[in-house]
Amino acid sequence: MTQDQLKALVGRAAIDHVVPGSVVGVGTGSTVNCFIDELAKITDRIAGAVSSSVKSTERLQALGIKVLEASEVESLPVYVDGADEIDHHGNMIKGGGAALTREKIVADLAERFVCIADESKYVRTLGRFPLPVEVIPMAAAQIARKFAVLGGTPKLREGVTTDNGNLILDVAGLSIADPAALESEINQWPGVVTVGIFARHRAGICLLGTPQGVRSIEF
Ligand code: A5P
Repeated sequence: MTQDQLKALVGRAAIDHVVPGSVVGVGTGSTVNCFIDELAKITDRIAGAVSSSVKSTERLQALGIKVLEASEVESLPVYVDGADEIDHHGNMIKGGGAALTREKIVADLAERFVCIADESKYVRTLGRFPLPVEVIPMAAAQIARKFAVLGGTPKLREGVTTDNGNLILDVAGLSIADPAALESEINQWPGVVTVGIFARHRAGICLLGTPQGVRSIEF
C-alpha cells in the first residue's frame, strides 16, 4: 500500500470516533484532508467542526461542513489530527504544516485527541523530524541561539508566515527523551508562541495505518 492509501485508510477509520450530533475538532495536513473528505459524507450526523487552520476551514466549507469559531464552543468530545511523529506514549511532534498553534488550541478544547497517521510516523523517541516552533519575528534569532545551546540546529522556514502572522523555526538534531519537560522549558522562552511538542496535549488513541490494516493504539 502507498503512503497515500494508508492516510486514506486512517482518515476513514477516524469516522468511527466521531460522536454523533457533536461538533468535531479538525486538524490540518494531508492525512486530515482524507478525514475531512469522509466527514463530508456524514454532514447530517454532526453539528459542525472547529478547524485548526485556514486551509482546513476552506476544505471543510467547500464540502458543505459548517465551521464554528473555537470561541463558540466550550468543549469538544473529539479532536482528530495527524502528526509528524508519535511515540509509544502518545507524545507527538506537530507543525510540519505550520498550523501547530491553532492545533494546540483546538486540542486543548477536546476531551480526546485521536491521532491519525501512517506507520512511518510511529517512533520510539521523538526528534528525527525537525521540531517546528512558532515564534514572534523579533525573537527568532534569540530563540535560535537558545536551541543551538541545547544542541539543536535551528533553521528558519523560508517563505512561511503562519495563520497568526508569525515565523517557524525547524530545529533538527534534538533527541527528545523527556517530551513533557522539554515542552515546558521551551514554553517559557520569551517570543515562543507554540512549540511543536504535544506532550501535555498528547494523543489518547492513535489510528496507525499499516499494510495489514488500521492498528488502534490506546495510550
Ligand atoms: C500541521 O501543522 C501538522 O501538525 C500536521 O498535523 C502534520 O504535519 C501531519 O501532516 P501530514 O498528515 O500531512 O503528514
